[in-house]
Formats: sequence, structure tokens, C-alpha cells
Amino acid sequence: MADTTPRATSNRSTTPGSSTFKDFIGSQWAERDRPLPSAREQATFAAARRDRISALHPGRTIVVPAGTAKVRSNDCDYPFRPHSAFAHLTGWGTDTVVGSVLVMTPSDDGHDATLYFRATAGRDSEEFYANPEIGEFWVGPRPSLAEVAADLGVATADLGALDTVLGALDDQVLVVRDADVDLTRALDDRLGSPVGGVAATDDTPASDDVLARDLSELRLVKDPFEVNELRKAVDATKHGFDDVIADFDAVLAHPRGERIVEGTFNRRARADGNTVGYDTIAASGHHACILHWTRNDGAVQPGDLILIDAGVEVDSFYTADITRTLPVSGTFTDVQRMVYDAVLEAADAAFAIVKPGITFRQVHATAMEVIARKTAEWGFLPVSAEESLQPDNQFHRRYMVHGTSHHLGLDVHDCAKARREMYIDGIVEPGMVFTIEPGLYFQQDDLTVPEEFRGIGVRIEDDVLVTADGAENLSVGIPRTPSEVEGWIARTGR
Ligand code: GLY
Ligand code: MN
Repeated sequence: MADTTPRATSNRSTTPGSSTFKDFIGSQWAERDRPLPSAREQATFAAARRDRISALHPGRTIVVPAGTAKVRSNDCDYPFRPHSAFAHLTGWGTDTVVGSVLVMTPSDDGHDATLYFRATAGRDSEEFYANPEIGEFWVGPRPSLAEVAADLGVATADLGALDTVLGALDDQVLVVRDADVDLTRALDDRLGSPVGGVAATDDTPASDDVLARDLSELRLVKDPFEVNELRKAVDATKHGFDDVIADFDAVLAHPRGERIVEGTFNRRARADGNTVGYDTIAASGHHACILHWTRNDGAVQPGDLILIDAGVEVDSFYTADITRTLPVSGTFTDVQRMVYDAVLEAADAAFAIVKPGITFRQVHATAMEVIARKTAEWGFLPVSAEESLQPDNQFHRRYMVHGTSHHLGLDVHDCAKARREMYIDGIVEPGMVFTIEPGLYFQQDDLTVPEEFRGIGVRIEDDVLVTADGAENLSVGIPRTPSEVEGWIARTGR
């Protein structure tokens, strides 16, 4: 399982292979004498998360791989990002060692957790200089077992020992199946496929699917560390939006101004965080009506509204998810403002009802009442707002086909495997963080709306924390009313 053979580049390899060379490159290196780190802040939170999943699956071995980098082409990979369940249960961030695996073994009082990772190969190894994937000369040194144990507050062991551990497991093992397909396949081959793949009922054992569900639901309520990371992500995202506005002259001057927006935001994401939490949407003019416009190869014309949906992911992998729709020339036209005001009213109405005890679904329903009312008032619907809101009608949804909210955290669409009754039909609890993101999108060829509305797309998206008795808009510091937005552009931009 722990294959360390580099992928073939023998047709262009120039690495010297003589023992004379190996002896030389492996010698005369200074000793490393680093003090052990103290535990990072998230270590205790990660331990508490492990305790909660342990309590849900007594007596079962739980295997949570970080995974490996996905191949882009040949020997080039996409940047490595560990599986979110692994990040959540270990607290390890961007410095995660590729291919690590967390194993939680049943014990008398729950589970014992051991983090298996590839320890330093040493300078006398060939890996040291000749393995482009993991070698120290190529990708930098790895921490020692003792360093990671101290840093994350968890027992560690060399990945080389994992095959034996996994080889000794019986069918009581549960694995996060999509984290490392090779590891999952190896378990399946040995134990029968799929591992524990029985749909759980009160009478049958929990399956891997149930583990995935429970790991998702474990993340529905954020702990204080997670909330703080999300605040940092929102803060960096605000700076990213500031940067974009400051660049509006360059954006307007370039034939692919949307790319300038994307590049400027992404520069901030890389500088202040790990990267973007999802592909930036930079959608100007009628592109704003394409909900996930990420090609971003359009021009930005004077007078356009540009819809920017972007979020910085910080080094712990928590991400913001913010949308602002901005008039690039500095002021909204009357019709742009009319649409913007309607979306803002929907967002504010939805925000106003958020408090513990409501259902998640009510947030969307509240926003939709405003969207239906506005589009009815403007004469776009074939029926009244009230009739449109009937489940079998929903005419207003032509102008907003997406949902209003999703959970946010380590993933932009967090908790994706939670049960429906825990998610859309779930009860809102303190510590939940989700988006509120209504929009109105009038396609450029939509004959149900007057010409002056066609090609206008507006979304306003904020990240909301549920508090003990209400809600806090984490992104309230990013201007959102029309006059705030105009002031922001006047101040920051052109
Ligand atoms: N920010 C993109 C989305 O929520 O789908
Ligand atoms: Mn979103």
C-alpha cells in the first residue's frame, strides 16, 4: 500500500546511479536538532471530534485516509488536499503528509487513534534525492513521528507498518471509501466488497456509508476553533474583494477582464490563505446569469454589473463563500438597483428569521416569499405571488433556480452527506455556519421579462453563524447595500 516507487520518467532521467555518487550525496549533512513543537490549537478540538465519532461506532475500527494527490496528467498532479474528514479528525492542515492514514482502533474506553504517515526516509536513501514525488530534494523534508505526535496530540507510527495493521483487520472495519481508492480497494479485495457495505438499520451493523454520513453530520455544528478559522477566511476574502475593486481599471482595460478579477482574487487567496475554497466565479454582464460561470474569459464592459462569487480557504482548509455583485463603473443604474434591492430584501428577510429552533428549510422559504412577491409585482409571473409559491407552481423559481443556503466549513458545500432530516429538514442549532445567497437572474433571451431586465444577474451571499439566540452575519463587514457598495468602489477603486 505504501508504494514509494517514483512514477516513470526513465526516458529523461539523468540521475547518476553509481555507488560513488550515492555515497557522496548521502553524506556530509548537518544533524537536525529541532525541539519538539507544542500542540497546535486545534489538537484538543480534533480529539473531541474523534471522541464523538468513536461513541457512534463502538467496537469498529475506523480508517480515515488523507488520500493522495489526484493525477492531472502523467507525473503531474493537482495540488494535494487531504480528505476533509481526515482534516477534521486530525486538525492537520496544509502541512499534511501525503498518503497519511488515521486509524481508530477499538479500546476499553472507546478508540485509540494512531496516525500513520511516511516518516523521513533519511539522507542515505535513494528517495532523498531521486524521488520527485516525495523526496526531500524535490518537495522538502517531512516531519518526524515525534514531531507530529507532539504537534497534533495523537500517537503516530510509520506508514510502513500500516499494511500489517490493515492486513489483521476483520470485517468490523469501517473506511472513508472515497479518500484513498487504492487503500479501499485493497481492503475490499481482502474482506469482500464493499467493506461493511450493509445499509444500517437498527438490526444491522453500520456500513461505510453510515460512517460517511456520521462524519458529515459531525461537522454540522462548528466548534470555537472552526468558527474562528471561518472568521479568518471571511476576513481574507474581504481583502480579496478590496483588491479586485482596486484593480477595476485593469479589469476594464483587458479583453478578458473576468480573468483579471479571478487572478487578483486568487493572488490574495494564495498570499493570505491556502488557496480559493472553490473556483472563483467572475461573471460580468449576462454571464452573471450562468450560476457557476468559472470559465471567466469574458470582457468586463463599462456599465456592467459583475457578479463575483469567491472565497479564501485558509491553511486549516476552512473556506469563506461570499458573493457580491458590483457596478464596475461605480454606480447602479435604476433597473440594476431595483433588482439588487429585491435580492437584498430577500437576503435580509432570510437572515432575520435565523435562530436556534427554526428549520433550515425556512431560511429558503422566507427568501422565496420575497423573490415571488417582487417578480409578481414586476409582472413577470403568470399568477400571483401566493399562487406561485404553491409547491406545484413555483414560477418565480425561473429567476432563481438554486437554493438559498448551504452549510459551510472545511468544504464550501459542507456536510454534504448528512441526512435530509439533518440538513434541509434539520433544526438550526447554535454553532452552525451556512450561507444565505438569494439571487435573481434574468437571462438575456428571456421573453418573460422586459428588455431592460435581460442580462442582469444579481446574487448577494453572506456567511452566517447561528448564535444562542439569533445569528451573526460573519461577512457583514463586506459592503452589501447599494449605497455601501457604491461608497466602497468610490473609496477603493477608480
Ligand atoms: N459559491 C458557489 C456555490 O455555493 O455553489
Ligand atoms: Mn455558496
